[in-house]
Order: sequence, then structure tokens, then C-alpha cells
Amino acid sequence: MKLPIYLYGSEVLREPAKEADLNDREAIAALVEDMKETLAGADGCGLAAPQVGRSLRILIVDGTVVSDVYGYLKDFRRVMINPVLIEESEETSEYSEGCLSVPGIYADVRRPSRIKVEYYNGNFEKVTEEFDKFACRMIQHEMEHLDGHLFVDKVAPIRRKMITRKLQNILKGRVSTRYRSKLE
Ligand code: NI
Repeated sequence: MKLPIYLYGSEVLREPAKEADLNDREAIAALVEDMKETLAGADGCGLAAPQVGRSLRILIVDGTVVSDVYGYLKDFRRVMINPVLIEESEETSEYSEGCLSVPGIYADVRRPSRIKVEYYNGNFEKVTEEFDKFACRMIQHEMEHLDGHLFVDKVAPIRRKMITRKLQNILKGRVSTRYRSKLE
């Protein structure tokens, strides 16, 4: 079932999410299925549970939708339950990002170029995996949602000014999305 995506200004996006209870597999699997449908319906490449109003440490990424640009992502999909960042590179890179919860806004964000993450996959197996390039960026963006942060928080002050009015428009409900969304 497709779920509405919560927009910038919604409280749930600012709460640190709770660890998912791994004993509750059926509920987690059902939520992950709904998140996959929601993400596909919105043509996005990543979604975190708080974006569908569930304050849980679960995220999905799907590189296949950006594989025309990043060919190496043509089979890249991950489900991450309770992900934990265990290493990040000192080297950073900057790239333009967007977010289904912050429609119509794109801004450059600087992030570590490589990370190592420990998480449970969709089969509830514990995995340790390293990511680089665009996969690394997608996963860092989604992990940030689990701590109540949004990519626009990281935008350099001088650029932030340029997006302030657009952010205010979202808060006032003056925004349209191709997917079902809500502000609450
Ligand atoms: Ni996002």
C-alpha cells in the first residue's frame, strides 16, 4: 500500500527514530513493502520510515531509478533495519541532493566519500558493508532522516538563504507533489 509522504515541517521528520524490534518481523516486513511501493510510486531513490510517519530506524534505497546516470547502480537496492555507521572517510565530496519530503529543492551537500555500515537486511541477517560514490550518498542521506535531520540543515549558510523562501512555501502548503503527501 502506498503511504503519504510527510513533508518538511512535519514533526515526525524531526524526531530521532526508535530502533525497530527485530522480534516483530511481520510488522517490519509489511512496513518495508509499503515503503517500497511508496518509493516506486514517487520515482525516488531512497526513503526512510519517518518520511511515511513511522518513527523507526528503517530505510530503503533503490539505485535502479538513477542507473541511467550511475550505471553501477543498475541492480543496487538495499533494505536497512537499525543501520549503524561504524566508519566514515575523512575524504569528503559535494553533490546536489533532493528529498521527497522537501519537494522542489536541490542543494549541494558535503559528506564523507566512503562509509561502513552495520545493519539488518530485509531477511533479518546482520550485514557489514562498505559504500562509496552515489550509494554512499543515498545511504547517508537516509540515515540522517533516522536522527531527525534533513539535508537542507547541512546546506552552507550563503546557499541556505536561496532556499529559505521555498522552504517557507512548503510550510504554508504552497507546494504540489506528484505523490500523496501530508504536512502534520
Ligand atoms: Ni530525504
